[in-house]
Amino acid sequence: MKGVLLSGGTGSRLRPITHTGPKQLVPVANKPVIEYAIEDLREAGITEIGVVLGNKGREEIQDFLGDGSAYGVDITYIIQGNPLGLAHAAGCARDFVGDDDFVMYLGDNILKQGVTELVESFEAGDYGAGIALQEVENPEAFGIADVDADGTVTRLVEKPDDPPSNLALIGMYVFSPAVFDAIDDLEPSWRGELEITDAIQSLLDDGYAIDSHVVTGWWKDTGKPEDILEANRLVLEDAALEAEGEIEDGAETRGRIGLAASATIEEGAVVRGPVSIAANTTIESGTYVGPYTSIGPNSTLSGVHIENSVVIGDSTLTASGRIVDSLLGRSADVESADDLLPEGRRLVVGENSNLKL
Ligand code: G1P
Repeated sequence: MKGVLLSGGTGSRLRPITHTGPKQLVPVANKPVIEYAIEDLREAGITEIGVVLGNKGREEIQDFLGDGSAYGVDITYIIQGNPLGLAHAAGCARDFVGDDDFVMYLGDNILKQGVTELVESFEAGDYGAGIALQEVENPEAFGIADVDADGTVTRLVEKPDDPPSNLALIGMYVFSPAVFDAIDDLEPSWRGELEITDAIQSLLDDGYAIDSHVVTGWWKDTGKPEDILEANRLVLEDAALEAEGEIEDGAETRGRIGLAASATIEEGAVVRGPVSIAANTTIESGTYVGPYTSIGPNSTLSGVHIENSVVIGDSTLTASGRIVDSLLGRSADVESADDLLPEGRRLVVGENSNLKL
């Protein structure tokens, strides 16, 4: 069994964060989203991984993952080029996959329980594909499977106007190499993409059985800023957090706190977990860091109150106000203007930024 990790896409819904880097490298609990996928594949015993790259962020992803040895896997890079759909991306991996079965994992998805059960279930039978499903409240926004009373998949449809069920295909699939011929015969959908959902329907039409597996643990497609915040919440809730850095006497800490060895919580600061604070970051006196917050490396927080937020790193936050439910890109600074006249907010805001003041 091989792994095919899709890492293309434009990241348009995560602008401006994705103006400067691919969405798969946005950190959740101080770890890039794509690293969770690599770990899940390795845990399922899959170490030969093809990473499919689009036009955007190619170099950054290759610099980050390298040959995979740092993660205990062996990575081959596959260039998709223009994003013509998930089935197109999968099709680009044909030579890499050869005659093997493979797990296809969307590199911007995070799943609590990993892919081991999905792989084992697929291997226990004779299937053309295995799909992971989860109940969603907005089935119009996903690929949807119709499943009969015995759990047999009878139909798949991408973003249906009239959904036959609320069981969405989530971003993990297992395929036999038969899928490549199905992909070759696909026509673009209404959104101009080769849909992986249509390829699975075509396997079904050709008489292949499709294994389905309902995933009960949380799953998050991290396409939008609010998804990053929710994924950060979900990961921090479960993560084993260790305070290795310095907590000075007179700092008030409560709950689970991940504090990198070179990070400091100074006297007079208040930190309530679950929180993750990365290397070389200092939480100074008068600062409050509240639950479900991740602060990236090389940052200084002084006097700010922040919670339920992700600060990617290299930031200085000295504003005296409260920052909640926020995603701050690398090197974003939010500083105090308390002693400046005229009074008012001073903004240098990039394209596609979103501020609620
Ligand atoms: C894609 C798939 C869809 C699936 C979803 C999961 O949608 O086409 O079938 O349910 O991922 O995140 P997209 O993100 O391309 O809209």
